[in-house]
Amino acid sequence: MAKPEAQNLEEDKLAHALVSRRLFSREELQQFRAADNHGDTDPLLVRLVKAGLLTVGQAKRLAPEITSLVNQQIPGYEMLQKLGQGSMGTVFKARQISMDREVAIKILHPRLIANEVYLERFKREAHLAAKFSSNNVVQAIDVGSAGKLHYFIMEYVEGTTIKEILEKGKVFEEKEAVDIVLQIAQAMLHAHRRQLIHRDIKPANIILTSDGIAKLADLGMSRDTTDQARIEEEKGMTIGTPYYIAPEQIYGKGAVDSRADVYSLGATLYHMVTGQPPFPYPKTTQVLQAHLKENLTPPDHINTKLSTGLGEVVELMMAKNRDERYPSPEELISDLESLWQGKRPKFARQRSETTMLEQLAHGEAVEDEERKRKPKKKKKGPEPEMVPIIWVYVLAVVVIFSLVGNLILMLR
Ligand SMILES: Nc1ncnc2c1ncn2[C@@H]1O[C@H](COP(=O)(O)OP(=O)(O)OP(=O)(O)O)[C@@H](O)[C@H]1O
Ligand SMILES: [Mg+2]
Repeated sequence: MAKPEAQNLEEDKLAHALVSRRLFSREELQQFRAADNHGDTDPLLVRLVKAGLLTVGQAKRLAPEITSLVNQQIPGYEMLQKLGQGSMGTVFKARQISMDREVAIKILHPRLIANEVYLERFKREAHLAAKFSSNNVVQAIDVGSAGKLHYFIMEYVEGTTIKEILEKGKVFEEKEAVDIVLQIAQAMLHAHRRQLIHRDIKPANIILTSDGIAKLADLGMSRDTTDQARIEEEKGMTIGTPYYIAPEQIYGKGAVDSRADVYSLGATLYHMVTGQPPFPYPKTTQVLQAHLKENLTPPDHINTKLSTGLGEVVELMMAKNRDERYPSPEELISDLESLWQGKRPKFARQRSETTMLEQLAHGEAVEDEERKRKPKKKKKGPEPEMVPIIWVYVLAVVVIFSLVGNLILMLR
């Protein structure tokens, strides 16, 4: 029987502690654990006693000492279980002993901590985030290091990420998606007012609780967009492709501002209501190219149940040129509220009309706005322009029959 993940984690820590206590070498323990796989789920200390590598007395004396050694990995916290793994590190559920509460701890990948400049910026932003509190943001608690470990401590949220929900094949109803995105836009508004840009808004970073509260995770955990090692790692891979990244982040030029978050939230909304990311290609290079150059297929063309207004909002959020996007989350919030109430979104509407006028000014043919946005639905029966043609055929058949009839009569 495979051991539960929590037990494996405990054992990793225990093994680490036994080695640092110089009771075993790392290799000895590795060999013991690798060979000891016959379904024995007893704790490691017990198995070591059973194998005659420790006496009962030794194990008893060691137990309390080792427990405290294990917990010293991050002072003040007791690791409970692994929650998941991302590109920046591993997230664990833990208990903050002083406050007797559950927290989530992200241990940064060693590759990231090698870069001093990045580490400094990371700490600075994490401190800013820890001073900020919103019901729609996963609260940052602390950032620090213990030995070689660099960690970020945050509120533990009991819930499911939007990514997990999408992976189960759910396509969100328009109103449900708007409600979630509105909560995240509100969190963004407060964060941006404090000069906090998320830079990595995506379905994996939105956790939905059972009572419908959407929480934005990883605020203050800015990733290094110039992280060359990661870009190389992801090249050609089908996972981890940057489906939600703003064009200006790809170029990596100049300071990224809140409009990059607006773009990424737009891409997230797109995925939620259509069931697919905006540019659903398998390779990173193709996705990046599409963010930069390819026209977006409006979401209401993919899912015809969606309102025209939602399509307009997403298109405005995801304009390639950030000067053409919502200038700040305020206008976005206003439009999302309108959508939620079933009204037309004011800012997105204005933008559509301006585009239409610009096209007119440039002498381009402008279709009726409504027809341009909505895909042409297939009608039952003949298409209207086909009807006269059919009548011509019917008439021709009638004429031929009467001519043939007359000819027969004349021949008689
Ligand atoms: N505060 C939290 N509370 C509860 N679970 C969390 C918390 N933060 C993260 N998780 C869980 O841990 C998983 C891994 O998170 P992590 O941020 O490392 O990866 P990611 O968001 O998928 O990718 P990335 O590293 O690109 O942000 C998440 O998918 C989520 O299930
Ligand atoms: Mg994350």
